[in-house]
Amino acid sequence: MQSAPPNPTIRIQIRVSLLSVAMFLLKAWRSTAFGVYGYLNFTKSGFLEHSKDFNPEDMARRIDGKNCVITGANSGIGYATAHGLASRGATVYMVCRNKERGEDAVSKIQSSTGNQNVHLEVCDLSSVRDIKSFSSRFKEKDIPVHVLVNNAGLLENKRVTTSEGYELNFAVNVLGTYCMTELMLPILEKSQPDARIITVSSGGMYAAPLTTDLQFNSSKFDGVTQYSSNKRVQVALTEKWAEKYGDKGIGFYSMHPGWAETPGVAKSLPSFSKSFEGKLRTSDEGADTVICLPLKHHIGTGNLFAEIAPYNNRSVETK
Ligand SMILES: NC(=O)c1ccc[n+]([C@@H]2O[C@H](COP(=O)([O-])OP(=O)(O)OC[C@H]3O[C@@H](n4cnc5c(N)ncnc54)[C@H](OP(=O)(O)O)[C@@H]3O)[C@@H](O)[C@H]2O)c1
Repeated sequence: MQSAPPNPTIRIQIRVSLLSVAMFLLKAWRSTAFGVYGYLNFTKSGFLEHSKDFNPEDMARRIDGKNCVITGANSGIGYATAHGLASRGATVYMVCRNKERGEDAVSKIQSSTGNQNVHLEVCDLSSVRDIKSFSSRFKEKDIPVHVLVNNAGLLENKRVTTSEGYELNFAVNVLGTYCMTELMLPILEKSQPDARIITVSSGGMYAAPLTTDLQFNSSKFDGVTQYSSNKRVQVALTEKWAEKYGDKGIGFYSMHPGWAETPGVAKSLPSFSKSFEGKLRTSDEGADTVICLPLKHHIGTGNLFAEIAPYNNRSVETK
C-alpha cells in the first residue's frame, strides 16, 4: 500500500516554525551570554577588578593645546570625558543640542578645572542639516582638531521619526556619527599623524547582528534591538574608516564604556538601572577608556574595541 505524500503546507509550516524556534534560541543565547559576561566585566566590580592592572602613569599625561571635539558633552560619559580632557590641559569643544544645558556644563568644567579653553558648540546630532552647518562653522575657525569623540547617543524605546524622516536612534547613533566623522575628517587631517576619532559604542552591540534594515522597518519596533544594532554598525563603520583612511594619519577607535549610571541609562532603561543600583560604574569610570585613548602614544588603529579597561584592547568580530 502506498502512503499518502506529506501535505506541502504542513511541511512548510514545520520548517517555518523550526526556523523561528532556532532564531528565538539564538536570541535568548545572545542575551544570556551578554548578561553574564556584562555582569562580570561591565559593572563597577568588573572595573575595580580590571583596574588592578592599570598603570596610573598612562592617565597622568597632559595634552595642553590639543583641540578636542566631544559630542553629547553636557551629560554622563560625555561630560566626564570633557572634564577629564580639560583637566589635562586640552582645549575642549563641547557639542550639545541644548544651549542652556551646554552653557551650564561648560561653566561647571571651567570652574572645576580652572581651564578657560572650554567652549560650547550647539548642534543637534539627529539632524544632518545641523551637522553640516556645525562643520562649516567649525572650518571657519581654521584650527586643527586632534581628537573627535563621537559620544552623543540615545536609546529611544518608541519609534520617533525626525523632521528629516529618519528613525531617531538611527539618526543620532549612526547617521549623526557618520556625518560628523566624514565632515570633520579634513579638519582632523590637519593634525596628522596623531589625530584620533573615538566612537563610544556599546557592549550592547554583542546582542545584535549587523543588519541592513537600518530604519527598523521589518518588524514591530524594539528600541533596545535598534540601539544594539546601531552600536554594532558604529564598530563596523570604525573598521571601514580605518581601512579607507588608514593613510591619513588618523587613528580610529570604537570602545565600550562598561555599564555606567548616567541620566541616559536611568531614563531609557529604568528597570535595569534600578536592579543594578550601586553596582554600575560612575560616569568617570565609564569615561576612562575614552580619556585614555587620546593620551596614549602609538596605539595602532582600526579594529580595536577597547571595552573593559583602557589597557585591555582587543579585536571583535562585527559580522
Ligand atoms: N551609560 C552606559 O552604561 C553606556 C553603556 C554603553 C554605551 N554607552 C554610550 O555612551 C554614550 C553616552 O551615553 P550616556 O550613558 O552618558 O547617556 P546620557 O547621559 O544620556 O548622555 C548622552 C548625551 O548625548 C546627547 N544627545 C542625545 N541626543 C542628542 C542629539 N540629538 N544631539 C546632540 N546630543 C545628543 C545628550 O544630550 P541631552 O542631555 O540634551 O539629552 C547627552 O549629552 C552613548 O553613545 C551611549 O550609547 C553608555
